[in-house]
Amino acid sequence: TLEGSPAVRRLTAWEPTRLESLAGAYGTPLYVLDLDRVRENARRLESAFPDAEILYAVKANALSDVLETLHGEGVGLECASAGELRRAVAVTDSGADVHYTAVNPPARDLDIAVEAWEEHPELTITAGAEDTIDRLEERGYDGRLCLRVNPGIGAGHHEKVQTGANAKFGVPAERAVDVLADAADRGFDVVGIHAHVGSGVSSDQLDAHREFVSRMGELARSVTEAVGDLEFLDIGGGFGVPYREDDAPLDLEAVADATREAVGDVDAQLTIEPGRYFVADAGVLLTEVNTVKDARETTLVGVDAGMTTLLRPAMYDAYHPIRNLTADSSDTERSREETAQTIAGPICESGDVFCADRKLPASERGDLLAIGNTGAYGYEMANQYNSRPRPASVVIDDGVARLARRRETIDDVTRVERES
Ligand code: LLP
Repeated sequence: TLEGSPAVRRLTAWEPTRLESLAGAYGTPLYVLDLDRVRENARRLESAFPDAEILYAVKANALSDVLETLHGEGVGLECASAGELRRAVAVTDSGADVHYTAVNPPARDLDIAVEAWEEHPELTITAGAEDTIDRLEERGYDGRLCLRVNPGIGAGHHEKVQTGANAKFGVPAERAVDVLADAADRGFDVVGIHAHVGSGVSSDQLDAHREFVSRMGELARSVTEAVGDLEFLDIGGGFGVPYREDDAPLDLEAVADATREAVGDVDAQLTIEPGRYFVADAGVLLTEVNTVKDARETTLVGVDAGMTTLLRPAMYDAYHPIRNLTADSSDTERSREETAQTIAGPICESGDVFCADRKLPASERGDLLAIGNTGAYGYEMANQYNSRPRPASVVIDDGVARLARRRETIDDVTRVERES
């Protein structure tokens, strides 16, 4: 049943009246993130991977409150840009357990990363191209260097997030030994190898995971033999979470077992860097219905969040569970009939749709909807298309809600022009 499915259970666990009062206090659209759930997710990862070093992929949700919470849990931080690195260093005040993964890094990013290293020499920089290594050397960097390889195998929830087989990421694994031997000769402190197979890997892709980690294990052994000891073997993130009503939760123990089997004998610290798994199911997006109309085949329900607020449905056809909180909380009212609804935002694009023909209790103008599992890659991918300000974010910490990031105003959107 729907109630029994993990994705929906998380959404129905939210108290409707609580969310209604947050929407009343802070307006909609509004992201709400439960930091207590983030901590629980961290503990589940720690218990499945007790011997691994665990980093959080900041890109999933870079809110300082999230970074502080996870830093407090002893989780390190993996950063994809200078901006994320600045955030990570501000939170940790150290470079230890902070990795900067450079993907075709702009010069400005490398300048900032090298500056951060001068202040915090424990920082690790992961290069995904020989050019990046050269460019680090030009800047006087001879610190901790990890090499990102392209393992030639991908997995994940959508073709657009299968990084392991995509030529953009990493140095082909077969060239890794040469590249690392050369880097060691040039004085870099070679500490690790890294790869990321893709994002949103589910239990039915366990075979791909197994193949991926066993290739990484093999590579780690050849690097150790030809170049020298490695401190760590980083197998990236990608652990999936259930979104659809009938999605099974990821069997974390099975992933951990398969990983240990493939790399348990490698003499290097196993490192993982999930993003989504920590935060996805800790977040909901609240949005208000402003339009209900008959649109031939379906009922069109217009809401105040759109693809600028939550891009995943438009970009990957991603499914998110949706709940009508008003219909659920007003139990004294007549019960609402279920109808097929297409829920769409205010953006001038026909792809600005959260779901098509989904059966939900009949929506009415003024209803509050909750879109579930939006704690990962939700606010992070929000943008200002159509000159639309980004929404506010509220966090719940130890049961207490507070504003973590105010709503942008139209003035915020135009300020950078006025200041030019
Ligand atoms: N490490 C590296 C090097 C990555 O590129 C990524 C994700 C991660 C770790 C974390 O992956 P996770 O555990 O969160 O799956 N916007 C897409 C996801 C893009 C992920 C890109 N890289 C989405 O909304 O599904």
